[in-house]
Amino acid sequence: MPSPLPSPILPGQPWTALAPMQDVTTLPFMRVIARYGAPDYFFTEYFRVHAQSTLEKHILASITHNETGRPVFAQLIGEDLQHMERTVRALLAHPVAGIDLNMGCPAPKVYKKNVGGGLLRDPAKIDALLACMRAACPGLFTVKMRIGFEDTRYFEQILELINKHQVDLLSLHGRTVKEMYRSEVHYDYIARAKTVLKCPLFANGNVTSASKAAQVINITGADGVMIGRSAIRNPWIFRQCREHFSGLTVFQRLWVMYANMPSYCGSPFLMIPYLTCVASII
Ligand SMILES: Cc1cc2nc3c(=O)[nH]c(=O)nc-3n(C[C@H](O)[C@H](O)[C@H](O)COP(=O)(O)O)c2cc1C
Repeated sequence: MPSPLPSPILPGQPWTALAPMQDVTTLPFMRVIARYGAPDYFFTEYFRVHAQSTLEKHILASITHNETGRPVFAQLIGEDLQHMERTVRALLAHPVAGIDLNMGCPAPKVYKKNVGGGLLRDPAKIDALLACMRAACPGLFTVKMRIGFEDTRYFEQILELINKHQVDLLSLHGRTVKEMYRSEVHYDYIARAKTVLKCPLFANGNVTSASKAAQVINITGADGVMIGRSAIRNPWIFRQCREHFSGLTVFQRLWVMYANMPSYCGSPFLMIPYLTCVASII
């Protein structure tokens, strides 16, 4: 049976998580989000795993120097069993809430190496990788994936593997790898996953507001939502979700974020995703 997840901020409500986003969900970004209304869980950017890899210091800092008080799951991307196991053991020496496997990254330079979303073409490889990581992880072992590579032919088979290896949480982005980020999200597949899985399920993809979070939970039956890009546009979104789930009036002060953006970016580099998102809205 899957192990229980760490306590959420408000027990009894659907869970919320900040989606891992490379070059975005840095330690300063997690601090900003925590200040405006923390999610139940954070996930790090992915640690790359290969024969020469070591733990990237700036990603490790989002675990070791994270004073937000919220649990942080460390995400890995890779496929070599020996080095994945070595990296899991290295991470377990730090205060991680659990280890998360990336099976969704759609960047061609990533999936061409059969890692990230590339794994979704190869259920036998997934079977071996989940077995290896499960054995190396005495605590929580979680997976984040999409519904398939170019189609959903292995979807049910992969869900069975998630059950077989007693994964503790699945975060499911309702698009295939080939659909990247802009197509419709197939929430019907997330609903199908819920009927098969033994572990909790977080719905991911285009959860753009607290009311959309409630709607997605309602139509999928998911146990929680994982939110990425909308938290960049609106760092209050997790607080707003809690308020909405509790039936309270939802806090609305988006304009303050734009006015204060330079002061809370933390690093000049974080201005880039912020400015990009603001430009796409206005
Ligand atoms: C800039 C960016 C970087 C991302 N990096 C990662 C990553 O490191 N690991 C991962 O599993 N997903 C990554 N994703 C995917 C997101 O976690 C999420 O699945 C996707 O954005 C859909 O959720 P959203 O519609 O709430 O943004 C990234 C997405 C974006 C936009």
